[in-house]
Amino acid sequence: MNQFLENNKTLFRYISLIFFILIILLPGLVFFQTRGGVSFLEKTSLKSAIALIFPLFGLYGFTLIWFQIMIGSNIRYLTKIWPKIFLFHRTEGIIAFLFVLVHISFILITYSFEKFLEARFLPENLRIFGILGNFAFYLLVLSTTAALFRQKKLLRKYWRFIHYFNYVVFFLVLIHSLNLGSDTQSGALKYLWYFFATTVVISLINKFSKRFSLSSN
Ligand code: HEM
Repeated sequence: MNQFLENNKTLFRYISLIFFILIILLPGLVFFQTRGGVSFLEKTSLKSAIALIFPLFGLYGFTLIWFQIMIGSNIRYLTKIWPKIFLFHRTEGIIAFLFVLVHISFILITYSFEKFLEARFLPENLRIFGILGNFAFYLLVLSTTAALFRQKKLLRKYWRFIHYFNYVVFFLVLIHSLNLGSDTQSGALKYLWYFFATTVVISLINKFSKRFSLSSN
């Protein structure tokens, strides 16, 4: 496999780059297309614009979390094609976190902190999906902090375990967004989200089957 990747490095570089660009473009295209371009942001106050745009940051936060999981679980192969992929993985992790931070900060600006805490700005039957978003955020803070400070004595042993929280974050946000999102409950993004979920499940099965076969040898 490694040799095959080395021999076809250029081809795989192009394929992975095109794949990355297409996936990155899709959430933004769907978001603006369903709103008729950027005109919905015109003639609105800054506060209303923030309330209208915050879902876009959620879409990108989640898409980048998916990329992080995909890169992390295939890093052995990807380094053959992209030798600096680890650096990209680290930078992308920070960018994903910043997108999530903006998603949440914009909700805090739109509503109040008290309403945010228990998602009281949502109808009662949907609050649970807001609270799942809160949990996802706390876990994301832990896993990002652990990865950033993994060289510290206290974290050296446990950071990898804490970093696995990203899988939990992924599934929490999947449920959160499929139930709350205005763009993810139908159309292209619903299918993109299903594709994300399928690939994460496959990489989890792959990871655990490798672990199991190693420990039984
Ligand atoms: C790891 C943290 C989070 C991520 C990655 C995330 C991601 C997402 C995504 C992908 C959507 C779908 C957007 C769309 O369909 O356009 C969404 C929607 C939403 N999120 Fe989050 N979210 C997070 C945390 C939170 C938190 C803590 C709250 C507040 C309780 C929240 C409130 C909402 C709301 C109200 C929507 C519906 C927006 C709409 O009308 O489309 N999210 N989020």
